[in-house]
Amino acid sequence: MQNPTQSQIALARFKDAFDATPRLFRAPGRINIIGEHVDYAGGKVMPAAIDFACWVAARPNGLNVLRVSSDLGQSELPLDHFVKQGDWRDYVAGVAFALRDAGHQVQGHDLAIASDVPMGAGVSSSAALEVAIGLALSGGTVTSKDLAQIAQAAENTYVGMACGIMDQFASACGVEGHALMLDCATLAYQPIPLPSTACFLIVDSGVKHQHTSGGYASRRADCEAAAATLGVPLLAEVTDLAALNQLSGNPLKRARHVLTEIARTRKAEDALVQGNLTELGRLLNASHASLSADMEVSTPEVDRLTALAQATEGVYGARMMGGGFGGSIIALVEPDRAATALESILETYSAYLGQRPGAFVVRAAAGAGEVA
Ligand code: GLA
Repeated sequence: MQNPTQSQIALARFKDAFDATPRLFRAPGRINIIGEHVDYAGGKVMPAAIDFACWVAARPNGLNVLRVSSDLGQSELPLDHFVKQGDWRDYVAGVAFALRDAGHQVQGHDLAIASDVPMGAGVSSSAALEVAIGLALSGGTVTSKDLAQIAQAAENTYVGMACGIMDQFASACGVEGHALMLDCATLAYQPIPLPSTACFLIVDSGVKHQHTSGGYASRRADCEAAAATLGVPLLAEVTDLAALNQLSGNPLKRARHVLTEIARTRKAEDALVQGNLTELGRLLNASHASLSADMEVSTPEVDRLTALAQATEGVYGARMMGGGFGGSIIALVEPDRAATALESILETYSAYLGQRPGAFVVRAAAGAGEVA
């Protein structure tokens, strides 16, 4: 017999806990092809929703409370005021309060959650949870763009992580078979078809990240300090690299990353449209070098895994992905050689790590929605 799917698990969990018929919602995790640590600086990013998702079975319960049953435990979360718990429950309740802050009515709900988006691996398990909960609590009545912004607000205000918009946007607005070219300053976006000659591998470094613990926020603060010195609200508005001469220390390094990453992402868009995967791979490698040296968000393990992937046959390019400080790398690979490349990377990296890390081939999936 096949393993039950996450949607079946969410539905069975709902039946066990609440014995009623719910509606079912799904929101995916994401990869980011390029455009890293630029969303909060107003740059363009190139994420895609993936075929790993969070599923939420939901039904109003007529009470002023969220009753939740999930992989991570069961809980009752009051809706009269927000009570910070310091764990996954803050994402669930945070979305309810962020929906209210945005002017939406939120009733009490019974919720059952199941997800196969790996946690702490840099593929946005938390954004998938937030967006799925947002859909469920709003009954699917909020537009995808608003949903992304409400989910981001939940994370900023109630979880306490000063993330940008990329993850929630990719989860809410993803298009099957496409990457999204998203302008984070205006939220204008365009889906770009991914060529069949491109395959993306995700390999977990085995180092768990925890973005609420400082490193991410300090990078963002450095970027804001650089923007203030340069007299712009967002670093993406700086068009002349020579302006960097006015900066020094960490703000200089972070701003240099942001501006060069924005330029790389622009070139990557052209490369993707032209199907020039050699060039796209080169840009991924350059992105990693900048994230490691200037943004300083890599780790020795992630650097090692990235170098290993870059040197593997069939790999066009590879880099760390997401906020950093651990998590996963993304590698752009020739589809025919994906399986052997993955095996070869895993064999060498597992020997170094002392265990076999999570690794998978991802496909670009549709963004969040209700499942009939
Ligand atoms: C995390 C954040 C995003 C983005 C990336 C880095 O995933 O949630 O908003 O800043 O890091 O690109």
